[in-house]
Amino acid sequence: MPSSNVDPTAAAPRLSRSAEILAAADVHSSGLWHPDVVFVRGAGALLYDADGREYLDCLAGIAVASVGHANERLADALARQARRLIVCPQNLGNDVRTEFTNKLFQFVKPPLTRVFLGNSGAEANEAALKWARAATGRRRFVAAQRGFSGRTMGVLPLTWEPKYREPFGPYDTEVEFVPFNDVAALEAAVDERTAAVLLEPIQGESGIRPATQEFLAAARAVTKRRGALLVFDEIQTGVGRTGTFLASEAFGIDPDMVTLAKGLAGGVPISALLLTDEVASAMPKGGHGTTFGGNPLAAAAGLAVLEELEARDLMANATRLGERLMAGLRSAGSVVREVRGRGLLIGAEMTVPAGPVIDALLAEGVVTTSGGADTVRFLPPLVIEEAQVDEVIARARKAFARF
Ligand SMILES: Cc1ncc(COP(=O)(O)O)c(C=O)c1O
Repeated sequence: MPSSNVDPTAAAPRLSRSAEILAAADVHSSGLWHPDVVFVRGAGALLYDADGREYLDCLAGIAVASVGHANERLADALARQARRLIVCPQNLGNDVRTEFTNKLFQFVKPPLTRVFLGNSGAEANEAALKWARAATGRRRFVAAQRGFSGRTMGVLPLTWEPKYREPFGPYDTEVEFVPFNDVAALEAAVDERTAAVLLEPIQGESGIRPATQEFLAAARAVTKRRGALLVFDEIQTGVGRTGTFLASEAFGIDPDMVTLAKGLAGGVPISALLLTDEVASAMPKGGHGTTFGGNPLAAAAGLAVLEELEARDLMANATRLGERLMAGLRSAGSVVREVRGRGLLIGAEMTVPAGPVIDALLAEGVVTTSGGADTVRFLPPLVIEEAQVDEVIARARKAFARF
């Protein structure tokens, strides 16, 4: 094993704020921006700032650090692969990419049998829209109110939040938004012009809002009836976070396409569009591609994450500790109105705006983020331990007592 001469626990030099950080702060609208908290290393579900203070990470880079920080298997796989081969375009074969996709299809079941590898969630969703147009010859899409599909120009028209979408329109893509979980509205919106319906099985950015069984079943039935496709965006919900590899498995509904990203390679940029054979084959030869997608480094990271999920039974951990965390948060203070979620995808809706609560949690050493205006999202790495969950609950009690 190649060894490193960098001591990860060594004190980091104090950093001066770069122009890049200030630029990011300028475009970041929420009150949750803390550029003065400078994280320099992590270990499992823990983060350490430049002063050596320890935090419990209930953000995981927004559901990205699935196997935790400084994960040995992931770090070793990256180091090994970096010394073997980093670059290999997808028109040529690569051993580790094949190993990764073979492993992926041990977790993903038919009828999803094909995969296109990309680099980010938005890119995967854009690919899904493109494949839907190729497969149906149609150009209209149906999405849900409060849904989030990404911020690039191709998917912004399917991101509901007006403040993200409206300043950059009008868009060529025709989209109808229906209220989430409104079966009648969905059935009325899907017709013979619809290419696809795109839904998150549990809406993430808007505050961890699960779909009802009836809504997803109706989405499957009406798309089949109208010759449209059903796409599940599992960019936030996928890769074991909810206790099953895909959150949609728990609903027993087979979509035509699924998008994954975030946790799939534990922090290394990657995305996957999963497709049925029939949809995959609709793309004309050479009709889609990407330079970095499926590169051996990301594939090695993805393989390590999937091996880790299996070896440490992390999906069972997500179910067990997710229930413990949700139960603890429900009784952590009167400021908690409702706790929603599945596994370690958790939203605690507050009786007050989320921003100050997130600040109070940070002051207690717990890193979280918002989901909508009044919900605090708890998305810890799937490797979080029982004692750490109990510590999160204890610190949340203290933070919530301020309100
Ligand atoms: C459900 C969902 N879809 C799409 C995206 C966009 O992914 P990315 O930020 O990697 O482009 C996100 C990111 O938060 C997401 O949560």
